[in-house]
Amino acid sequence: MSNKNLRDVYESYFIMGAAVTPKLLREQGSFIRTYFASITAENEMKFEALQPSRGKYDFKVADEMVDFAMNNNIKMRGHTLVWHQQTPNWVFESTNGGNATREELLSNMESHIKEVVGRYKGKIYCWDVANEIIDDKDDYIRKSKWLDIIGEDYIEKAFRYAHEADKEAILFYNDYNATEPTKSDKIFRLVKNLLDREVPVHGIGLQGHWNIYGPSIDQIKAAIELYASLGVTLQLTELDISMYNNEDNLGLLVPTEEMLELQAKRYKEIFSLFREYKEYISGVTFWGVADNYTWLDNFPVKNRKNWPFIFDINYQPKESYKKIINI
Ligand code: GLA
Repeated sequence: MSNKNLRDVYESYFIMGAAVTPKLLREQGSFIRTYFASITAENEMKFEALQPSRGKYDFKVADEMVDFAMNNNIKMRGHTLVWHQQTPNWVFESTNGGNATREELLSNMESHIKEVVGRYKGKIYCWDVANEIIDDKDDYIRKSKWLDIIGEDYIEKAFRYAHEADKEAILFYNDYNATEPTKSDKIFRLVKNLLDREVPVHGIGLQGHWNIYGPSIDQIKAAIELYASLGVTLQLTELDISMYNNEDNLGLLVPTEEMLELQAKRYKEIFSLFREYKEYISGVTFWGVADNYTWLDNFPVKNRKNWPFIFDINYQPKESYKKIINI
C-alpha cells in the first residue's frame, strides 16, 4: 500500500486534475489541493458565463477560481472557448437585428477569445479552444450556427485567435466519444488538416465520459495511438465512469457491491493503460471530485443517482482510488 496520495503518485506520470465549482473550492479547498494538481472550471469559463451580453464581461467568479489555483500551486485548464452549447444568442445576432454576418460573428469570436485568453495569459496553461465540433453521425463537422454563418474555417480561426492572445498556452481540440472509431477517424482528420495548414493546435482532449462496461481497453488504446501519431499531446479532460450503460434506470439509492467492484477493476485497467502511455498523455482530469455531486445524476436520465468517481459521497477514498494508487 502506497503512503503517497493520488497527487503524489501521479506527479511523475501526468497532471492529475478535477473539474470544480466555486462552491467546492470555498468548502473543500484543502481537499482539492491535497489530491489534485490541476483544476478546470465546470461552467464558469464558458461563453455565456464570461460574456452574457455583448461587450459586458463578468470575470468575478472565474477570477476567484484562477486565484485559488495560483495561490495553491495548482495548474488551471481553460474550458471552453468555442462550443455549440452555453453560448448566448446575441453572439449569432447582428446589432441591426437578424443573423450576424460572417464578419460580425468572426469579430464576436475574436474579441471574446482575445479578451478571455489574454486576461489569463500565464495563469491558464491550456485551453479547450474548440469543443465537440465533430458530428456523431454521418456529417463531418457538426451543424451549428458557427458553421452555418462562418463556414468550416471558424475552427481554424478560433485556434489562431487563441494563439495570438497567448503564445505559450497549449491549445486543445476536445470531444466526447473520442474512442468511437467513426468519430475518432473524423477527429484525426480534422486535427491533421489543421496541422497540415500550420494552425496552432497542440493537443487533443478525450473527454472520457465512460462507464463500467465500456469503451474497451483495446478501443481506448487504439484511439490513443491514432491521436498520438499526429505528434500532439493528449489529455483525458472530463473523466467519469458511470455505473450505468446508457439509459437503464434501476432506481438505486446506493451503488451495488457488484457495481463498485466493476468500477474499481475498470479504473485500474484504465489507469494502467494511461501509465503505459504517459509519454503521450500530459493530463488526466476527472469531471468532478466526489460522488456527492456529478452532472451524471441528471444525465442522460433525470434524478438517477450515479457514483462515477474515486471518492465516495463523503469524500472518502473508494476501492477505485486504492486500485489506481497501487498499480
Ligand atoms: C460536455 C462539456 C462539459 C460539460 C459536460 C457535462 O462534456 O464539455 O463542459 O458541460 O458536457 O457536464
